[in-house]
Amino acid sequence: MSLSPESPVAVLCSGGDAPGMNAFLRAIVRLGLNRHQIPVYGIRDGYRGLVRAARQVNSDADALYRLKQEIERNIGNRGLIDAQQSIIQMDHASVSGIMGKGGTILGSARCLDFHKPEVRREVITLLEKLGVRALIVSGGDGSLTGARLLAEESDLRIIGVPATIDNDLQFTEMSLGVDTAVHTLVWAVDHFIDTARSHRRVMVLETMGRESGDLARMAALASGAEMVITPEGGALSEAKMRGLAEQIEGAMTRGRGHAIVLIAEGVKFEPEQKRNGAYVLRDAFQSYFQREGAPFPDLEVRPSVLGHLQRGGHSTPGDCILAARFAEEAWKSVLNPNGINGITALRYNKVEVVPFGCPDLPERAIHSCAMDLLHNDLSNW
Ligand code: F6P
Repeated sequence: MSLSPESPVAVLCSGGDAPGMNAFLRAIVRLGLNRHQIPVYGIRDGYRGLVRAARQVNSDADALYRLKQEIERNIGNRGLIDAQQSIIQMDHASVSGIMGKGGTILGSARCLDFHKPEVRREVITLLEKLGVRALIVSGGDGSLTGARLLAEESDLRIIGVPATIDNDLQFTEMSLGVDTAVHTLVWAVDHFIDTARSHRRVMVLETMGRESGDLARMAALASGAEMVITPEGGALSEAKMRGLAEQIEGAMTRGRGHAIVLIAEGVKFEPEQKRNGAYVLRDAFQSYFQREGAPFPDLEVRPSVLGHLQRGGHSTPGDCILAARFAEEAWKSVLNPNGINGITALRYNKVEVVPFGCPDLPERAIHSCAMDLLHNDLSNW
């Protein structure tokens, strides 16, 4: 494919939204316009928007011409807001005032259709017909797998950008959105502490994070939660839960007035449980505290599933800065004729592009264990 100076770069957000995605979009668009003089196409609703546009183009012979006209005519907010297009040529105004805003102005989606090779082929053909020089995909594990497949199946330059509150991408020290989600959890824990202290209660709070406990452990360390339970600690049996309840009761005996327990959503139970972990743990704790002869039979346990609250809110400066650094590196890779397809990553405090399938940073697992130990020693009472 021959590229002209006008060949655009396309950008999309995919999967669960993460704080920092808007700061990232702003940085991609502004660097494109101000530093590189290259237009940027924003894709609405992630891969789903691309699939939609590809189907539109396939519908009749003139559809591609009409799509190009639409993109050229409705620049910025005209395409984004007024015409609700799937592909929008972004301008300065369309990314103005969005830096810290939660969510993503382009919208995001999980697109099951994209698992099919024939659907990805349609999308590749569309991008080629539009003369797109590169596609930048921000999202989590599944979205970056989609990006890798596109890279393997086309000649397009494809750059992924880790954006997920789960912090489960082990080739980077941080993903976009984690810092803000931890901040939000600290805020939430602070609120739960007020009521827990007033009623001398145990609060069991379930955090997101899929199979990873990183979000929970970072939030525990930053908020001073008394206990954190992560999937990495192994499945919770009846005996293990009794042991945890004993720990809390012991602390109460030594004068602790309340307890905040964070449990990551990925924690498994033995035997398997269908309910949310926070509720399973509440029942186990409650029946232990009310056993015959217990020292605090009135000790109450309240569960809360914190849910999607963790994905929203104003992004922290840390996420906005990481977004700008990821965007700058993504652009460098797009423009370097010898650059590779891959994913931006924060490694040893440096941002670089690593190849798709890059091995985990060994320090990540070590760091998680160290955080658990540190939290343990800080929260013991
Ligand atoms: O990957 C981000 C995440 O928020 C996970 O922590 C959570 O398990 C999942 O997405 C929730 O997905 P959905 O928004 O589709 O319910």
